[in-house]
Amino acid sequence: MERRVIGFLVVLLQLVSCVGALSGNASNSGSLYAAFLLSNGIGRTPPMGWNSWNHFHCRIDEWTIKKTADALVSTGLAALGYKYVNIDDCWGEANRDSRGNLVARKSTFPSGIKALADYVHSKGMKLGIYSDAGYRTCSKTMPGSLGHEEQDARTFASWGVDYLKYDNCYHDGSSPQNRFARMSYALRKAGRPILYSICEWGEQNPATWAGTLGNSWRTGGDIQDKWESMTSAADQNDAWGRFAGPGRWNDPDMLEVGNGGMSIEEYRSHFSIWAIMKAPLLIGCDIKSASRAMLRILGNKEVIDVNQDPLGIQGRKIRSRADQEVWAVPLSGRRIGIVLWNRSWSRAPFTVSWRELGLAPSAPMLVRDLWLHKFVSTRQRYRLTAIVSPHACKMYVVSAQTQSLLETNGSQWSMPAFLP
Ligand code: GAL
Repeated sequence: MERRVIGFLVVLLQLVSCVGALSGNASNSGSLYAAFLLSNGIGRTPPMGWNSWNHFHCRIDEWTIKKTADALVSTGLAALGYKYVNIDDCWGEANRDSRGNLVARKSTFPSGIKALADYVHSKGMKLGIYSDAGYRTCSKTMPGSLGHEEQDARTFASWGVDYLKYDNCYHDGSSPQNRFARMSYALRKAGRPILYSICEWGEQNPATWAGTLGNSWRTGGDIQDKWESMTSAADQNDAWGRFAGPGRWNDPDMLEVGNGGMSIEEYRSHFSIWAIMKAPLLIGCDIKSASRAMLRILGNKEVIDVNQDPLGIQGRKIRSRADQEVWAVPLSGRRIGIVLWNRSWSRAPFTVSWRELGLAPSAPMLVRDLWLHKFVSTRQRYRLTAIVSPHACKMYVVSAQTQSLLETNGSQWSMPAFLP
């Protein structure tokens, strides 16, 4: 495909997304998006899985990937939805072969990527791979795909790859809109649904253009396994909330839960905020040796359910005072997800009224604590109160308090309309 044609398509797509945004009709702009370039029908809820980078960096090989796939199954994480097993940078030989194809590095992936995809598929999961919209990947150890988009997309499809993370290093200075569109088009032509994860580090406000090209886009630089890095990634991602929706997600970067640089409460906050923001939930630790405490965080089904809610609305920070934050999200079944996040260093009391959540001020509500796995008895029935430890959070789902609306297993319910 000619560069000029791609450029034209990108401009067209941007016009379309502007019209969608201006009309203010989310479902309308959603269907317009779906009608255009990528339109691969996948990623309707945020992708879940594992990625090698945060823990292993370039120290990867096929044994590690296979054992990780095994561990996702044996820990029960795969059954909870963590289905993508994603290889990041450093999987390839330094140069293409004589026909210009990318090749897996012989010393670390001797069986090749196709065999790995077959293995991961045999476990009921999906395989992800990594490339770059430039001449070398960010580690510089292998070629990027710029100028080889169609050939590489065909290679990935022929190997049975299901997910492509596409990075932004060592390019020719042309616009990311153009370079990322070229791979989007190539993937669409390759004949296999491949989730397309755009890694442009939020430099040129990708939320405003990447939803027409890919299924997710990074909203900032690389996360580090530190409280300050995690909180700032959350804030950067929050700014773009209105651009997310089924099939197109803001990506504040992969999870650090289990890598050891934060406390349990900090990791619980990290996971809760990623979940309510509808971030991709890509585990970034060594699952083979993860502690029970970390697996309990990553495996909290009630929190995952908020992330995977079919409405696909990104939760937002609705209040921030003295490092005490309230985040909220509308969920299906006319429920609301809430995180009370104490980013300060002292224990803090929180009070949230139903009015602040957009609910009728006097409606009696049922409140479920997603970390204690219990319904909360609200003595003051028209507001929620809690004491939250430093750097910790509380996470709830709120719904109408009508016994008859509870289904028999007590964990699912529906309720009358209360949202505007
Ligand atoms: C960075 C990217 C990281 C990782 C790394 C690999 O650009 O943001 O997530 O993929 O490259 O070299």
